[in-house]
Amino acid sequence: MATTDSVDPMLEPRPGGRRMPRHRSWAEPFRIKVVEPIHLLGRAERARAMEEAGYNTFLLRSEDVFIDLLTDSGTSAMSDYQWAGMMLGDEAYAGSRNFYHLEDAVRTYYGYRHLVPTHQGRGAEHILSQVLVKAGDHVPGNMYFTTTRLHQELAGGTFHDVIVDEAHDPTSTHPFKGNVDLDKLRRLVDQVGAERVPYVSVAATVNMAGGQPISMENMRAVSEYCRSMGIRVILDATRAVENAYFIKVREPGWSEKSVAEILLQFCSLTDGCTMSGKKDALVNIGGWLAMNDDDLFDEARNMVVVYEGLHTYGGMAGRDMEAMARGIEESVQEDHIRARIGQVEYLGRHLVDEDVPIVLPIGGHAIFLDAKRFYPQIPQGEFPAQTLAAELYMDSGVRSMERGIVSAGRNPKTGDHNYPKLELVRLTLPRRVYTQAHMDVTWESVAELYAKRDEVRGLRMTYEPKYLRFFQARFERI
Ligand code: F0G
Repeated sequence: MATTDSVDPMLEPRPGGRRMPRHRSWAEPFRIKVVEPIHLLGRAERARAMEEAGYNTFLLRSEDVFIDLLTDSGTSAMSDYQWAGMMLGDEAYAGSRNFYHLEDAVRTYYGYRHLVPTHQGRGAEHILSQVLVKAGDHVPGNMYFTTTRLHQELAGGTFHDVIVDEAHDPTSTHPFKGNVDLDKLRRLVDQVGAERVPYVSVAATVNMAGGQPISMENMRAVSEYCRSMGIRVILDATRAVENAYFIKVREPGWSEKSVAEILLQFCSLTDGCTMSGKKDALVNIGGWLAMNDDDLFDEARNMVVVYEGLHTYGGMAGRDMEAMARGIEESVQEDHIRARIGQVEYLGRHLVDEDVPIVLPIGGHAIFLDAKRFYPQIPQGEFPAQTLAAELYMDSGVRSMERGIVSAGRNPKTGDHNYPKLELVRLTLPRRVYTQAHMDVTWESVAELYAKRDEVRGLRMTYEPKYLRFFQARFERI
């Protein structure tokens, strides 16, 4: 029990003899109303579960996972306000009132005039790619994302990475590693011709680079260049709110603006966006495509009825659209976004203190362990990141995701593995789901694996699906 003269390590004497905390903590701007029990299997059961899953964390049963950091996609906890909205679902086939609420939210917070709802992000990517990309086209982007690039390729396009070099260096502390390298972009356009570039695909807080943001200044430069060349800029707005927060705290001149104002300004530099609502927008399912151009809207709205559903629901139930409209409103609240990214920082800081190699600066939605430096003895062809994700699960029941050579897939022309510079394991934080104690269990497990890193060998792939192989590939231990 604390007494007035006990020495608390957090308290240090201040002038006047009063003891003051060395630092002040933030806390989540919510309290927990409903809980979902989770269980930690025994070590032998975890080893068996991992083997049965072919050393692929995607193939584990969720019930066998203790702390699930596979993804921040569709895993958020909804608020009481969102759950209340679920009861107000208007499940009419056409013209649901919830569609109009969602349209209002997108116009208010993202600023685009036209909304095409889809079942999730890749539904929007599919429609956009089919409408805009023709065979032989080239699509530059600030690093690839798995589903985004695949839809561009399936439509006949070739993706080109035009992100700054720093993004491929996990040790670079550049504050905006999501930036487009304008020289690379110009060189590509000069080479293939602007008429073969249907749009530049710009992602906010670049997922595969480690959740790294793009600056407002860079976005403006991309926008000005593309407008001068008659090329569209299409944003992947999936984590644009997180990007807006980084602009506020890292980019000179923005600290006094609200995250909502920054988001609106950022989107105004683009012609449209695809969106997976399952991340920033705090829902379990849903997405959309938005744009300002009337003709593009006409085509996309026509295509959505073929693949997703009528243009006023696009694969979502009315209640899903209501939850997303409300989630968008909540996502730009300053205290929400500060706590969300604050939790990622908390986990990252502890790993840095333990000397664990991670991608720096700490990103928006996840901590990325650098598997090349973690397991230097494992060649990239023996899947160091896949191995580390499996080891982490077996050590503590924490589920993470490979983001390295398995995710990078094969070159569609040569059939060889793509060998990405980044060989990472992603510890992705669902929004409003886990507590600081869950973060402590996680970093302690990673730190212990790092201490025992020399003993570990790699994996061999035994089954490889044709598309997006990381989801279903199987491995065995070497
Ligand atoms: N764009 C980005 C940047 C994403 O991170 C995702 C999904 C998508 C598009 C596709 O959206 O899943 O709704 O179809 N990312 C998930 C992840 C799967 O775990 O990072 P979706």
